[in-house]
Amino acid sequence: MPKPYVIVSAPVPASLMATIEQKYTVLKVPFGKCPSQVLSPKQLAQVQGTINTVATRLNGKVMDLMPALKVISNFAVGFDNIDINAATQRNILVCNTPEVLDGAVADLTFGLIICLSRDLIRGDAYVRTGQWEQQGPPPLTSDIRGKTLGLLGMGRIGSMVAKTARAFDMQVIYHNRSRNYEAEEAGLAQYRNRDDLFTQSDFVSIHVPLNASTKGSVGAREFALMQPTAYLINTGRGAVINENDLVNALQTGVIAGAGLDVMVEEPLPASHPFCQLPNIILQAHIGSATVETRHAMISLATQNLLDALQGTKPQAMVNPEVF
Ligand code: GLV
Repeated sequence: MPKPYVIVSAPVPASLMATIEQKYTVLKVPFGKCPSQVLSPKQLAQVQGTINTVATRLNGKVMDLMPALKVISNFAVGFDNIDINAATQRNILVCNTPEVLDGAVADLTFGLIICLSRDLIRGDAYVRTGQWEQQGPPPLTSDIRGKTLGLLGMGRIGSMVAKTARAFDMQVIYHNRSRNYEAEEAGLAQYRNRDDLFTQSDFVSIHVPLNASTKGSVGAREFALMQPTAYLINTGRGAVINENDLVNALQTGVIAGAGLDVMVEEPLPASHPFCQLPNIILQAHIGSATVETRHAMISLATQNLLDALQGTKPQAMVNPEVF
């Protein structure tokens, strides 16, 4: 009996790959390629599952080429690369990798906050280029202790960032579509309406998912509400921000600076205006990119795939109604 096909378009380590291959024939699709660019219609027609990164975009049209598809296992917590309604309509279960990356993303968020407030990137150059020797100590920077951190989005990652902020004695406020009473009762953060969040924060950090209602939702209006000394951090999804408005706000001093791990276009071209700005710190979408976290993510994504194909309830489902 031939084994059913699954697509692997994610860095599945050899040991996990061997587990998949015990029951399935693996069709490898290079990073970010659409399965239809690589596989024949005959192969696509037999694919039952896929494990892929957020660089793989899966819409209804692509799903229709894979009529046997039962599960899409995303190697990420975000799933804006997948048309969830189209998947649900076709009875395709979508799985993701929540929780295991909360700590790593919260750590990076704080890395950006500290780098911005203490000017660490410029500080490093100050030493290397001999400015310290020639000009004496660099300019003073600012504390994060006692400052207000505003979280736009208070799900799992937002809550982990709020927990981390405790260690820095920050005041944490949040805005979320629905109140997170658990976080409030735990003393992690106080709720604010959306405008007050922008007005009152020294640091605004974005932790909402990207969807039709959040796309481009942080732009000129929000930057105008922020204090000129305030910083914007984004470790979620780039397209939540209107990037042209952000460039403008940074060039004209509407806000003090920004720390971005995510952008609309990834990889960010070095010719992008962001790369010319002195008051922005950029990272290459590395929020979850640690050995430990990526291992936990790929293990979960692989288990989600295998569970779904075997009819066992996967740990993390985006559209559980399909199961
Ligand atoms: C990374 O961006 C993720 O969604 O896991």
